[in-house]
Formats: sequence, structure tokens, C-alpha cells
Amino acid sequence: MSAILLSGKEMEKELLTSQIERCQALKEKGIHPLLAVIVVGEDPASAIYVRNKGRMCDAIGILQRTIELPESISQEELEAHIEALNTDPAVTGILVQLPLPDHLDENRALACVLAEKDVDGFHVVNTGKLMRGEKSALPCTPRGILHMLKKANVPLEGKHAVVIGRSNIVGKPVAMMLLQENCTVTICHSRTQNLKEMTRQADILVAAVGKPHFVTADMVKEGAAVIDVGVNRVDGKVVGDVDFDHVAPIAGWISPVPGGVGRMTVSMLMENTLEAACRA
Ligand code: GUN
Repeated sequence: MSAILLSGKEMEKELLTSQIERCQALKEKGIHPLLAVIVVGEDPASAIYVRNKGRMCDAIGILQRTIELPESISQEELEAHIEALNTDPAVTGILVQLPLPDHLDENRALACVLAEKDVDGFHVVNTGKLMRGEKSALPCTPRGILHMLKKANVPLEGKHAVVIGRSNIVGKPVAMMLLQENCTVTICHSRTQNLKEMTRQADILVAAVGKPHFVTADMVKEGAAVIDVGVNRVDGKVVGDVDFDHVAPIAGWISPVPGGVGRMTVSMLMENTLEAACRA
């Protein structure tokens, strides 16, 4: 393998020490960071995310409250729970675990979270601020991707970044953040024609497709930084969107799955939670 490995595990470790110290310093000032997580229904992937978030909170000293709500809950009841957290002075950060069951309106629920307590950066005000290049709570996965690229000193200014995927959680916000770093950004998606022609131009390639081993070696320019956001289950194993074994010899940098972006997402949630507590 010639590519430099972008290890989320290592970067998580580096951040953890400083997060423990910052949490302790906040407590000494009488501020007790408390992350409230709303989980609706029993999505198995959500259960794993929530458990990982909980472990990290424990390691840092962030208090947590998990509100488990039944699958059958109404929009009004869900919003009443969010409102109660908004007005509770002990709660410094709020996260609504996605996806919500189909009968619930995700946008309405996310808009209900007080923007100051929004640790996911999903509130429409924070989304708008990101679009305008104003300081805001940033979505955790995109923030983690930028952290990885900067930590590894991957050149960004003037470089061509190609993002595959246009979700509100990853594709769109990471494209905006790369633009903010003066990249030239192309967003590709399921209807893009000549995808390979696009991806082969990428100095930075972000794969957020949700298809195992979708990005193959022939789609990658030599020396590119390849960021794999995929979390796909194949025969009980977690694999990314990138065909790691064949892409790694060509790439300049590559993030593995597992142990890559996923680790950074939780780490950045902790950053956002500490920052929200400072605001409180
Ligand atoms: N579901 C999958 N990823 C995320 C995330 O980053 N935040 C929330 N709230 N739900 C998710």
C-alpha cells in the first residue's frame, strides 16, 4: 500500500485527552455538559450509534440522557419532548437520532430543536449559516472529514474535490465545507452521467454512496485523498464504499472502514457538545 492511512482511531485518541481536559475545565466553572439523545423506535443501526456516543460521553465526562420513545409516537408528542429539552437548563446539547419512522416529519422535528443546543448542525438556521460561510454548529461527519484532511496536511486550496452523494447529513454539508476551504467542488449522485470521468479528476474524493466497494481503482486519480464514508454490512462484516485493497496502492491518502470516518463522527459530536455547553 502506498497511500498514507487516515486513521480515525488515532485522531480520536489525540482529541480525547483535550476533550477530557476541556470538560473538566467547564465543570470547574459550574457548567456541566449534558447531551440529550432522542431515539424513536428500534432501528438496530441507531442503537449501535447511540451506544458508541454514550461510551464516548462517559470517557470524557459528559453527562447524558437518552429518551427512548415508541415507534408509534405522534409528531406533536415528539415535538413536546424536544421542547421540554429546549427549556431544561440542565440540557446543554440535543440530538434527534435519525432516521425517524416514516410517519414523522424529520424536517419539522429538527427545526424544533433550539439552534443553540443543536449538536448535529442539522437545524435549518445552522444549515443556512454553513451555506453563507458564517460560524455555526457543523454536522459531525463532514466536520470529521475536514479534521482528517487538515490533520494529514492534505492540500485543499484550489484543489478539485469530488463528493459522491448529496445527502443533507454528509454530501451537501461536506461540499460546502470544502468550498469554504477554497476547493473547487463537484457533487455527483445517482443520476450523474460519466461518473468515472468526474471522479478521475478528483484530488480529494469523498464517497458517501451507501454501496459496498462502489469506488473502484479505475475511478481514482493517482495520489488522490480518498475519504470513505460508507458503512455497509456484507456477510456480517462492515465494509466501506471504497474498494480499499485496490484503491490504496493508487491513492495518496485513504481512510479505512472501520476505524476511519466513523470514529471522527463521534469525536466531532463530542466537540460540538462541548462547544454547545460553552454557549450555554
Ligand atoms: N443517523 C446517521 N447519522 C446520524 C448523525 O450524524 N446524526 C443523527 N442525529 N442521526 C444520524
